[in-house]
Amino acid sequence: MVVGGGGREHAIIKKLKESKNVTEIFALPGNGGIANDAKCIDIGAKEIDKIRDFAVAEKIDFAVVAPDDPLVLGAVDALNEVNIPCFGPTANAAIIEGSKVFSKNLMKKYNIPTAEYEVFDNCDEALKYLENAPIPTVIKADGLALGKGVIIAKTREEAMDAVKSMMEDKIFGDSGNNIVVEEFLTGPEVSVLSFTDGNVVIPMVSSMDHKRAKDNDEGLNTGGMGTIAPNPYYTEEVAKECMEKIFIPTMEAMNKEGRCFKGCLYFGLMLTPNGPKVIEYNCRFGDPETQVVLPLLESDLFEIMQHTAEGTLKDAEVKFADKSACCVVMASEGYPQKYDSGFEITMPEDKNIYVAGAKLSDGKLLTAGGRVLGVTEIGDDLKTAIDAAYETVKTVKFDNAYFRHDIGQKALAAKKCIGKDS
Ligand code: AMP
Ligand code: GLY
Repeated sequence: MVVGGGGREHAIIKKLKESKNVTEIFALPGNGGIANDAKCIDIGAKEIDKIRDFAVAEKIDFAVVAPDDPLVLGAVDALNEVNIPCFGPTANAAIIEGSKVFSKNLMKKYNIPTAEYEVFDNCDEALKYLENAPIPTVIKADGLALGKGVIIAKTREEAMDAVKSMMEDKIFGDSGNNIVVEEFLTGPEVSVLSFTDGNVVIPMVSSMDHKRAKDNDEGLNTGGMGTIAPNPYYTEEVAKECMEKIFIPTMEAMNKEGRCFKGCLYFGLMLTPNGPKVIEYNCRFGDPETQVVLPLLESDLFEIMQHTAEGTLKDAEVKFADKSACCVVMASEGYPQKYDSGFEITMPEDKNIYVAGAKLSDGKLLTAGGRVLGVTEIGDDLKTAIDAAYETVKTVKFDNAYFRHDIGQKALAAKKCIGKDS
């Protein structure tokens, strides 16, 4: 049983289907595209009681809880209570994403490199602090905010407006009761997803997200408009440093706090002039990072997940192909703001296309979300993967389709600089 219904869940399900030990997959709620690969059940990802009852009734052997909300709400705890093994952290460990105040304090306590910060639960005090704080600065809502709770303020006025909008106008609801005001860092960003069972941490192939809506990183922040893997900035030396200073210390810190993390721990890193620093932790697979990382996984995902749940991850084989992948997200024109949907989608069947926002209606697949789908291609090198992804994009049709044209270009340029390209 896979809880969730986006492109990430589709990628997880497609990879799980390759396992010889997986015979049937239910997706809760899944979506119109996932319906090709799993039996979709009309239960929302946040309906914890219904999820548990369904799992018991269907005698589910193994559950994967993919999105942040159900993890933070305790879906894994609820399933474990009825003896259903799960991939994903319990609520007391998912707090590493659920509360920025928690994660910042954890990093400070255990000397894990991150941006300097102050925490406020009072608007006036935050505003007073901002009168003399270095600018630009970064304002973060404490709780989950659909990935939108981060405001980079380039002026003092913007910073103050951001604080007021979060703490007084409550644009992110209770997520803005507490806020973090953070030092502005610079440098290339890298996403590293890892498997961890609290005993070992095994990083997956690194990746690069493209968060802005428009080419050249312009436009609004989105859930992610495309990804590539591996990330050329993440060299072997950087990986080694991250393992020693960030990954293992984070796992051990969570153990010491009595919050053993089992599942996919996502490290959002910035490679600053002063070394790699943590920008954010996520308690789950990233979206759309998963859509480039899992296609490169050669080992059996289900076995890895079972080992993670059982605490025997050290015995798992986790091997990635020595290739590159590129995922281009096709969205509805207007996303992340207003957009129309309900348009018929036609696409090839034999491709790695991960459906995010689509529904089935009278046998037709119709657009039903901002991010509609992600087209992933693998290549021997990054350029081949990018070119192939854009070729496949041409074969996917729906009205109002919008996508970025430059996914991977920054990485290609970096590769040339770093001298890793052929
Ligand atoms: P998040 O929603 O936490 O992934 O943050 C969104 C984006 O804001 C990140 O991908 C970074 O590009 C940027 N960001 C977050 N924190 C900082 C920081 N301290 N300095 C500079 N940029 C940041
Ligand atoms: N792609 C970033 C995230 O999943 O939060």
